[in-house]
Amino acid sequence: MLEKRKKFWEESYSRNENAIVFPKEEVVKFISRFVRAKQPDGSFIDKIDLSPNMTALDFGCGMGTQTMLLTKFGLNATGVDLSETAINKARQLYPELKNAFLTLNESEILPFVNGYFDIAIAESVLDSMSFELAKINLKEIARVTTGPIFVSLISSKCNHRGAYLAKDETVLSQHEQGTIQSYYDMYKIESLLTHCQLKIQWYSLNQEFFNNENDIENARYYLVLNKR
Ligand SMILES: C[S@@+](CC[C@H](N)C(=O)[O-])C[C@H]1O[C@@H](n2cnc3c(N)ncnc32)[C@H](O)[C@@H]1O
Repeated sequence: MLEKRKKFWEESYSRNENAIVFPKEEVVKFISRFVRAKQPDGSFIDKIDLSPNMTALDFGCGMGTQTMLLTKFGLNATGVDLSETAINKARQLYPELKNAFLTLNESEILPFVNGYFDIAIAESVLDSMSFELAKINLKEIARVTTGPIFVSLISSKCNHRGAYLAKDETVLSQHEQGTIQSYYDMYKIESLLTHCQLKIQWYSLNQEFFNNENDIENARYYLVLNKR
């Protein structure tokens, strides 16, 4: 079994890190463009064929804010995370969804049957673990999902210390200390997707600059994936 660094995630959430209580713009865009768009009168226009249950998986849901966002689009969302501390916080923050959150055990198998979900998201999750584990987890997400999968991955352009290398590093700073940050370039993304039998339907690389073009503050890939 691959190391999951659960202990470090529990410590991180105990320090109140990743207390994300706002919907992420890129997740809103994904749902609106690729799943179902909300109309001014409150109705929806579906972009794909959804099953009658309209199910969505939020893999690595943390404190559950994106899980809640999925429900705002009328989807029956399930949020799963390795960290029990995060899941407890999600249940406190969104008591109406308390049965929708699940702590994962150390197994690499997701506790859902094939194709249980219509869509899935993994927002800032697959880059928060080793590349080897990301390959296993994404393959599992693909097994339990029939439709599009949204994934966001940190770009190697943020890895200043590693001279922009797309490699796995243990986080040394206090924020998320002891967890793994896995940096991605297009070559590494292709390798991840080939392993999981997935292809890119759409992607963007968002770069934020601090002072000038040579000083990248943040860079992230946002991808919508489908079965090959
Ligand atoms: C940077 S946080 C992102 C949380 C959330 N998706 C968000 O956008 O707010 C990364 C999350 O991945 C979870 N995680 C790390 N390794 C995991 C694994 N092997 N299985 C499931 N969740 C994992 C962590 O517990 C943490 O909640």
